[in-house]
Amino acid sequence: MPYRAYVTVSRVKEKEMEHKRPVIASVSSGKGGVGKTFVTVNIGAYLAHRGKKVLIVDCDLGLANIDVMIGVKPSLTLKEAIFEDKIIDDIAIHTKHGFDFVPASSGAIEMAQLMYEDIEKIKEGLTRLAQHYDTIILDTGAGISESVLQFNLFANKNIILLNRELTSLTDAYATIKVIYQAFGRNSFNIIVNSTKNEEEAKRIFNHIDSICKRFLGFPLQYLGHIVYDDVVPRSIMKQETLLTHQDQSIPAINCASIAENIVSWQ
Ligand SMILES: Nc1ncnc2c1ncn2[C@@H]1O[C@H](COP(=O)(O)OP(=O)(O)OP(=O)(O)O)[C@@H](O)[C@H]1O
Ligand SMILES: [Mg+2]
Repeated sequence: MPYRAYVTVSRVKEKEMEHKRPVIASVSSGKGGVGKTFVTVNIGAYLAHRGKKVLIVDCDLGLANIDVMIGVKPSLTLKEAIFEDKIIDDIAIHTKHGFDFVPASSGAIEMAQLMYEDIEKIKEGLTRLAQHYDTIILDTGAGISESVLQFNLFANKNIILLNRELTSLTDAYATIKVIYQAFGRNSFNIIVNSTKNEEEAKRIFNHIDSICKRFLGFPLQYLGHIVYDDVVPRSIMKQETLLTHQDQSIPAINCASIAENIVSWQ
């Protein structure tokens, strides 16, 4: 092939590759129980419904529970990838919710204390898998352990969740600060969960945004809010997503609108 044609072809390929680079979004909160797993699963379902190829990864390595939330019983998990050299491609499963899923295990102390090399191994496997997907969502555990930080670094978009409790705001801020100081990240997408309404969510967002501007020197991005509603625990109890459980409910509409914002990242 003449050199000029070769260059043109490789530029086209590069453009295609660029186009194919998936969004890898981490979901963290600092404080536990704020709704990370619920949000991960429901946004994943809406993105899949929207035609995106979605992979959800349970990165809450010691206390994984997405499998319970969506009603699957995986035979292989990230534990086998680390300790039995299974490849992550074989661990990923299709789900009836439209997304694929890489499960982890719960109650295995060795998974809660992984070494840096083990986390690297998971990241290498996910990098291989990533080419098959448009969006990968990483549901991290609470806190700011090494694995939470590493998965935030692996992601190219960082989502931070908080709710109306002051402690969730301080923990979300602490998480942002640590990720900024450790890796120089200064772009964070905020979801306010379990809120009364959009007005309250915006107030909570403005509060944490002003703290970040003042003490870290950068603003935050508002990704959306989800109202507090009993339909959420009811859908979890049924191991369904809001899309199939009650897609006209306000939290369902909120999740759909957050998913729409994520689509625009592509
Ligand atoms: N918008 C909401 N309205 C009502 N309940 C909610 C809402 N969001 C989450 N919850 C409830 O909060 C509980 C915790 O949710 P979830 O397990 O997703 O939190 P988490 O942040 O993943 O917790 P952990 O830090 O332990 O991993 C669930 O029982 C769920 O029903
Ligand atoms: Mg969780």
